[in-house]
Amino acid sequence: MSERKKITLPTLFKKVEQGEPIVMLTCYDYPTACFQEDAGIDMILVGDSLGMTMLGYDSTLPVTMEDMIRHAQAVRRGAPNVWLIGDMPYMTYQISSEEAVRNAGRFMAEAGCDAIKLEGGVEMADRIAAIVRAGIPAMGHLGLTPQSASALGGFRLQGKAAAQAKKIVDDAKALEDAGAFAILLEMVPDRLCQIITERAEKCFIISLGSGPNAHGQLLIYHDMFGLYPKFKPRMAKVYGDAGKVIQQGLAQYAREVRARQFPQQENYFGMKDEEYDELLLMLGQS
Ligand code: KIV
Repeated sequence: MSERKKITLPTLFKKVEQGEPIVMLTCYDYPTACFQEDAGIDMILVGDSLGMTMLGYDSTLPVTMEDMIRHAQAVRRGAPNVWLIGDMPYMTYQISSEEAVRNAGRFMAEAGCDAIKLEGGVEMADRIAAIVRAGIPAMGHLGLTPQSASALGGFRLQGKAAAQAKKIVDDAKALEDAGAFAILLEMVPDRLCQIITERAEKCFIISLGSGPNAHGQLLIYHDMFGLYPKFKPRMAKVYGDAGKVIQQGLAQYAREVRARQFPQQENYFGMKDEEYDELLLMLGQS
């Protein structure tokens, strides 16, 4: 394990001030968290995308607080020093500010998160404000917001037309004014992302598929390594095909077991002759 210093909100704002891009990834499990901690990732989002990538649902909507807490706890154990963000699942904050604060608090108390993220613009600004008032750092999420995919017409670019882009600029301002420390812009045009980044005064902007002109970048870990077989978004960059390596390994394992080539001697344990002989004696087989 590396000897990293704990990332804090001042650390992140210092990076922004110094023009150093913030590196953010999703993560859902302990071994991957260990890798990300060692790689020096700044911020981890335990995204409700785990409903699709880890639990095999068709959308993020069935994910519960219990699912999120369990995964966030595992990630925290593997990555003690990253700035850890718990993603508020569907209908855990939309109904009331009171529920939003209670569920945000669970991420902090039960999973050791540093902050939470929730989706939505001006209509969710009062939720962000209530959570921030409770002493919990909150991140906004605009553009393609997967929990509203049905209302948005699917997983598609948002803010292409000027009027829709203006609404996203207004939403970003409302979240910033409500106290969000950061806003994730998912799949909006690069120039819209640039405008919002240039206007941000009290928060920083993270891009997911929204171009380079933001304070930091987010990728979905499973997309980076070919680990989600159902779908590869255009915005994802594949840094290695771990999925292919795993599939090849599985096929080889099956072949070797069937051909009695596995296990080899180094894969199992022997017994001393005298113990073996005594065992046979005990069993009446000698
Ligand atoms: O759940 C998630 O991983 C997210 C990303 C799509 C940003 O919210």
